[in-house]
Order: sequence, then C-alpha cells, then structure tokens
Amino acid sequence: MKHWRIEDIAWDRFDPAAVDPAIVPLVKAAAMVERNGEDYALYLGGVFRDDPDFRQAADHWAVEEVQHGEALAKWAELADPGWDFAAGFRRYRAGYEIKVDARASIRGSRTGELIARCMVETGTSSYYTALGEATSEPVLKQVCKLIAADEYRHFKLFYDHMRRYLLRERLGMATRLRIALGRIGESEDDELAYAYHCGNEPESKEFQHARCTAAYMGRAMAFYRYHHIERGTGMILKTVGLPPRGTLSGVMTGVAWRLLRWRQHRYEQQLAAG
Ligand SMILES: [Fe+2]
Ligand SMILES: [Fe+2]
Repeated sequence: MKHWRIEDIAWDRFDPAAVDPAIVPLVKAAAMVERNGEDYALYLGGVFRDDPDFRQAADHWAVEEVQHGEALAKWAELADPGWDFAAGFRRYRAGYEIKVDARASIRGSRTGELIARCMVETGTSSYYTALGEATSEPVLKQVCKLIAADEYRHFKLFYDHMRRYLLRERLGMATRLRIALGRIGESEDDELAYAYHCGNEPESKEFQHARCTAAYMGRAMAFYRYHHIERGTGMILKTVGLPPRGTLSGVMTGVAWRLLRWRQHRYEQQLAAG
C-alpha cells in the first residue's frame, strides 16, 4: 500500500561530512510531529465516522505520516548518534495532546476540516522539497524527496474529498479563505515549537513557546526559495477555489515571500537576543 518503505532508502550512503548542523534540529522536531500522525487519524475517524471511504483513506494516510517520522528519526540518529528519538518522543506525547475523540471538526464543517488538512499538506510538501533541495547529504536528500512526494499525494487526497463535501456544504469563498489562512497561522502554535523543545532541549530547560518558535521557524524559513513559495501559494489558491496561476497568484506569491523573509528576520533577531 505504501509508496516506499524505510528499507528502500540507501542508508549506507549516509555521509556525516555533508550534514548541515542547521538542518539536524529541524529534522528532529519534524520527526516527532510526523510520528504522531496516528492521533490525527483517530480524530479524523471521529469527524468522518459515517464516511467509510474517507476513514479508510485517512488510516492509510496516517501510516505514511508515521513512516515519515520513522525515516526522519532514523536519519537524525545517524546525524547525531547521541540523540534518542524514543525518549524525546515520549516527552512530546506526554506534553502535547491531540483531541482524538471529537465528534465534529474543530473547523466547523467537514469541508473546513479538509481545507485545513490541505494547508498542512501544502506546508509539508513545500517544506520537504525545500529541505531536500538545500541539503547535500545524500540520504536526507532521498528521504525528503520521498516524503515530499507523499505530502503532495496527501494534498490531492484531501483536496478531492474536500471538493466532494463542498458540493454538499457549500462553504463560501470568504469562509474557505478564513479557514485556510487560519490554519497557516497555526503553524506557529505549540505543535512544532514543543516538538522542537522535546527534540533539542534538555528536560530540565523550561518550555517557552516564543523561544522555541523562533528557534524552529527562524531556521526552517531560511531554507525556502521563491519557487517553493510560488508552488505553495498555487496550492493554497486552488484549495479555496481561486486560479492557482496568473496575476493573482503572482501578487500573492510576492506578498507571501516578503512576509516570510520579514518573519524570518524577526525570528533570527529574537534568537540572537536570546
Ligand atoms: Fe508527513
Ligand atoms: Fe502528509
């Protein structure tokens, strides 16, 4: 069922000399969030309880997300042999909980839930593409390429189901846009920041949202190039029902690109200030 397996990766090609130390903390944090995918499937199972087709697709999707976490964790343990994924992941699970027993989407509708899922997959698909292009370490390059391809398929999966629900629920453009932008804004919530903390900071250090967000986002944003933002913007526009290419897309990409650079700079300043 899966498009690839952990064993397909050429782990023996790992080149420690090519590891960029700025990427390692990001991979550690991402490994935790991805590995936690099963809980999202439980949540989606509750929200879509009378839709067996979607539930089956969501269960399969979660298996792929968990594998992303396992592959990233394995790479991070090669890059930093002293790092213990299992211990960090236990901390993460203990401190960050997803509400798995919801009976309705926190987005207000099933269409809304699927729009939010599309935004997450847009983000991950762009992110792993950017990391894969930035790294010269051959194993991480391969891992990121495989994951990015999965994330794009996930986007298409949620997009197709979203279109199906849209026919029934008929959410207006403004609502769809609000949900999409709202979910993008949540990338600065605790999920990633706390994963960064558990993956990179000792248990004795107190978790601080602002510090961990700056540490994670400041580093992560540095890897994006214009064409990643261009592609991501197209996926966002497509999700809310606007043309993914053309004048609007060009303007939005320009705005998103400047916003990204501005925020990256702010996070870097925050980091430098300690
Ligand atoms: Fe993933
Ligand atoms: Fe995904």
